[in-house]
Amino acid sequence: MEEKLKELEERRAKVLAGGGPKRVAAQHAKGKMTARERIEMLLDPGTFVELDAFVEHRATELGMDKIDAPGEGVVTGYGMINGRNVCVFAQDFTVIGGSLGEMHAAKICKVMDLAVKIGCPLIGINDSGGARIQEGVDALSGYGEIFYRNTLASGVIPQISVIMGPCAGGAVYSPALTDFVFMTEGSSNMFITGPQVIKAVTGEDVSPEELGGARIHSEVSGVAHFSLPDEQSTLEAIRKLLSYLPQNNIEDPPLIDIGDDPTRTDDSIADLMPDSPNKPYDVRDIIIRLVDAGDFFEVQPGYAKNIVTGFARLAGRSIGIIANQPKHLAGVLDINASDKAARFIRFCDAFNVPLLTLSDTAGYLPGVEQEHGGVIRHGAKLLYAYSEASVPKITVILRKAYGGAYIAMCSRHLAADQVFAWPTAEIAVMGPEGAANIIFKKEIEESADPEATRKEKIEEYKRSFANPYKAAARGYVDDVIDPAHTRMRLSNALNTLLGKRQSLPSRKHGNIPV
Ligand code: HXC
Repeated sequence: MEEKLKELEERRAKVLAGGGPKRVAAQHAKGKMTARERIEMLLDPGTFVELDAFVEHRATELGMDKIDAPGEGVVTGYGMINGRNVCVFAQDFTVIGGSLGEMHAAKICKVMDLAVKIGCPLIGINDSGGARIQEGVDALSGYGEIFYRNTLASGVIPQISVIMGPCAGGAVYSPALTDFVFMTEGSSNMFITGPQVIKAVTGEDVSPEELGGARIHSEVSGVAHFSLPDEQSTLEAIRKLLSYLPQNNIEDPPLIDIGDDPTRTDDSIADLMPDSPNKPYDVRDIIIRLVDAGDFFEVQPGYAKNIVTGFARLAGRSIGIIANQPKHLAGVLDINASDKAARFIRFCDAFNVPLLTLSDTAGYLPGVEQEHGGVIRHGAKLLYAYSEASVPKITVILRKAYGGAYIAMCSRHLAADQVFAWPTAEIAVMGPEGAANIIFKKEIEESADPEATRKEKIEEYKRSFANPYKAAARGYVDDVIDPAHTRMRLSNALNTLLGKRQSLPSRKHGNIPV
């Protein structure tokens, strides 16, 4: 027995050593942790249970018969985050560059299947040279198996991808199929075709960082949801994100009461709203005054900044917040804002996270670029996502709610459960200037002093339409509230709506405009 235990110990030590001290040192020299170090830091201490440590590849071609790959270049298993189960895999760049072959993929697929079976989140840490070239079509089939599982697990368990090294070619599509993508600044990149191929095909010169680094994907392409300065802060952010989420689609998010009185009033919150309707303000200042302990976890903070999305708690319960951001582009809706918000809404709906919408938008961004870019198709996603969402939906119209944007920002007409308006709300087909110029065109043109008449007509329109009372008179707004009482009213509405049960018509699936 002693001998057998010794053999076990030796075999395990070999696996734990990964690609060996030289390659581990090279990994550290790049400011990167090893796969095992990352898992250790991500999970609650001492909870990691490894699976498939002794899996080996069975490739023989191109010298693979002579290559030993401890752990097959990926560490897989389960453990806990904040005392709750998670499944995890982390590619080990020190072993054949973390490249994905048949058995490497089989390990990932096994842990994905386990996550779905037991209903817990899956976290995948990517650091890989992509398909293992020596394994040819077996490597490609491995990716296909992973993509298939990502898709079937979508909306069943939260799936989180972490990019902490290269992620190139078709390999990027596993992260893209998951719910949230985290990238570490300076050491991660994602692209379908790399700089060398681009140079050969289009002649463009671009570095990996400029092509697909963390900043590009979190600010320009929208592929990444979070970009963090280093690996430690990236892993901490994942732990925080999970604290707002349920384990799976049939559970509710955890109730975490941090002792912030839900009936707390805030007499100075109204001061955040500028006197002039054309003045910008940062809607996040309002959000943090409304939610428990001012704790707001923003999702995609660098992308489509004209709309803010993120998680917070109200009366201890997780909520997903979608808010127009008057500080950027006056909070207008455009292609990217619609995409960002729609995807966030669908995640929340899939995982039983109630929605709070804060509306202050003058409408859609005008322009040829937007129209030719398909703002009709992209904007439709927002309508679709809100209409389809069956979680509790609460809306507060803070200021402007004009035209199609009034409808799109979770109006009563898209089945919002509660709609409140601040007294500063302006709910109408369009803003006073535009409206007065159209409906009083004749009077203005024929008047002796067109400018004075224009101003007078704008004021007349403002008095009659730029307020919440016309919508409240129809019952489209449930109540016009004192801003000081907003937190109290929202907490109350949320508690009331917790029992909401809504079934949608039976169908295979809808057809969201993609
Ligand atoms: C086999 C690979 C590999 C791969 C890296 N290695 N990528 N082995 N298949 N795809 C090996 C290297 O030979 C090397 O082995 C070790 O991993 C470390 O790689 P280095 O090149 O020394 O590291 P570095 O200089 O940091 O460069 C990393 C890299 C580079 C940028 C990722 O290795 C690279 O360009 N790799 C190829 C990337 C690629 O084109 N992959 C295919 C993408 S297409 P030794 O023994 O020397 O340590 C794809 C299709 C998926 O993935 C389709 C899905 C549908």
